[in-house]
Order: sequence, then structure tokens, then C-alpha cells
Amino acid sequence: MTNPINIIAVGGGKGGIGKSVVCTNLAAGMALSGQKVILMDTDFGASNLHALLGISNPEHGFQDFFNTDIIDPRALLLDTGISNLKFVSGAGDNPGSANIDSDKIGTIISFIRKLEADTILLDLGPGTNYNVIDFFNMSTQGVVLTTPEMTSVMKTFSFIRSALFRRISLAFQAYPEIQKMVDHSDPTSADIESYTTGLLRSKFKEQFPNHTESLEALISNFNPGLVVNRVRNRKDLMAGDNLLKLVKRFLEVDVTYLGYIIESDRVRDSIDEMIPFLIKDPQSKPSENLQQIIGALTNTDLQFVKRDGRIFVSKQVRLSSGWEA
Ligand SMILES: Nc1ncnc2c1ncn2[C@@H]1O[C@H](COP(=O)(O)OP(=O)(O)OP(=O)(O)O)[C@@H](O)[C@H]1O
Ligand SMILES: [Mg+2]
Repeated sequence: MTNPINIIAVGGGKGGIGKSVVCTNLAAGMALSGQKVILMDTDFGASNLHALLGISNPEHGFQDFFNTDIIDPRALLLDTGISNLKFVSGAGDNPGSANIDSDKIGTIISFIRKLEADTILLDLGPGTNYNVIDFFNMSTQGVVLTTPEMTSVMKTFSFIRSALFRRISLAFQAYPEIQKMVDHSDPTSADIESYTTGLLRSKFKEQFPNHTESLEALISNFNPGLVVNRVRNRKDLMAGDNLLKLVKRFLEVDVTYLGYIIESDRVRDSIDEMIPFLIKDPQSKPSENLQQIIGALTNTDLQFVKRDGRIFVSKQVRLSSGWEA
């Protein structure tokens, strides 16, 4: 058996917070550090990830997958010009016509599982509908993003709650009564205190006491990572802390803080130039931030240096504390 693929999904609820920029740069960084990486645009109909990689018109994309008889997933892989990094576009022949129902999502998820890579990165679209959440939940490492603004923090909270409740609902597919109860507990505009893990647990205890143990396991096995993007000062960093506390208090989910990325013109310039900022200038502040995040995700200390137009990477694997004297 081959090693299981590491699937990292980057989501966060609110639109325009930097999911695609961060996902692209994570993919570029992991590829440069020697992993075989595939970056995927799952934002069908509004896909624009290719532009961040300097690809103006993707030759193929998921739309072709549904409109033609492509059966070999490798046919959709596009070159990026970055070694070790391939790309799958969300676009194709009919951009904008994405009508992705849950059958199609299922087909795409099995497509993703058939690919050969060390890491697959899924760039998610905005929102918390099932199209988005199901991709997040298929990942082996879910990463949620927020900016310091309260509106973004609250949307990311709702995103985490939707992902958790969807997991619980799908786990009890064989019990429609439980599913109904869980789905009812997660209306999209739910306020924070009315739909908590604690309330769900008490309903389980009352109505389905035999299933409380499975519920607890689902909650404790859900451990997304958090990145705070567009940080301008120390105060902005507190947004991450606040979100961790809210999620712990109301959802009882442990979120791992992975790091932050500063607000920077270098990020914006790199988008205009259609080249990941990590590649354009690996020693800039946002690139250092990103290296920290990759370090936290892969348990390695990475350092990227650019000399004479070439990027060199030094990599040190972190030993777990159990090995230290
Ligand atoms: N760290 C940053 N510093 C400065 N600008 C940033 C930073 N991160 C993101 N941006 C700006 O935010 C814009 C939106 O980023 P991006 O397209 O990645 O968001 P998104 O969350 O993927 O949006 P959508 O939900 O529409 O897919 C970028 O074009 C860039 O101008
Ligand atoms: Mg995006």
C-alpha cells in the first residue's frame, strides 16, 4: 500500500480574506521543499486560482471532467512552471456554469483520492454551503483562515461549526431522526449561543443516549488549524486568540494555531505579477510568516533563500518533545 496522501483544505467562510493567496503559496512552498504537490481550485464557477500561478487560460479543468469522458484524473493536471507543483483548475469549457450537486462533489472527491502526490491542497470557495464544507471535511488537515476583523472571525467560527455539525450529521446517516436533529441545529444564520456542542450533547443524552460516545469521538477528532491573515499590529493578533477561545467555549473543538501573515504590499504586488510571493521574494516578511506556517503543518523548520534567481531550501525535521533529553 502506498502512503496515504496528505490533503490540506484551506477555507474560512468569508470571501476575499486571502484563502486562494495563502493556499497557492503553501502549495509553492511545500513543492519547493521537495514534496510532490497538487493544488486544486474547488471554487467552481468562480475559479480564479490559475491567475495566481500565472496561467491565464487553463487548458482543462473540472468542467471538462463532467462534460467529456475523462476517466484518468491525471489528464486534468496542468504544469505550473514550479517544479513538483501541478494544478487542477476549477474552470474549463463552460466557466460560470458550475452546477455542482452532491453527486458531483462525491465524484470529485473520489477523483482527488485517486491522484498520486505527497500533498494535495484544496482551495475552497467562500461560504459554508455543503459544496464547500464537504471538501473541507475530506481533508486530512483542515486549515481555516480569518482576518482580524470581527466579521471575518465570526464567519470563520460559523465555518468551523458547519464543518463539525456536517461531520456529525453524515456520521449518523443511518439514523434519520438524529440527522434531522443535528441539521436543525445548524441553520446558517444561527447565533453563537443557541447552537452549541453543549446543547447538542444534552439533546443526545435525552433522546439518543446510546450514541453520546460516538458524538464525543466526532468532536474530539476534529482538530482544524488556524491562520490569521492581513495582520497589521499586535492587537490584530488577538483576533486569532479570540477565535480559539470562542471555538473552545461554544463548540468544544481544539483548534491548533498555525501562525499569521502580515498585511503587505508584497502580497498584493505578487498577485499583480501572477507569481507566488514566496517565490518572488522568499526572504520577505510575509514569506517568513508562510514558512512558519508550513513548518507548523509539516513539523519541519524551513528556510528559503534566493540567490542568483534560484531558490535554495534548508529543512530541519523537528523531533517530538518525547525525544528530547
Ligand atoms: N497578507 C495580505 N496582504 C495584503 N493583501 C492581501 C493579503 N492577503 C490577501 N490580500 C488581498 O486580498 C485579496 C483577496 O485574496 P484571495 O483572492 O486570496 O481571497 P479569497 O479568500 O480566496 O477570496 P474568495 O473567497 O473570493 O475566493 C487579494 O487579491 C489581495 O489583494
Ligand atoms: Mg479564493
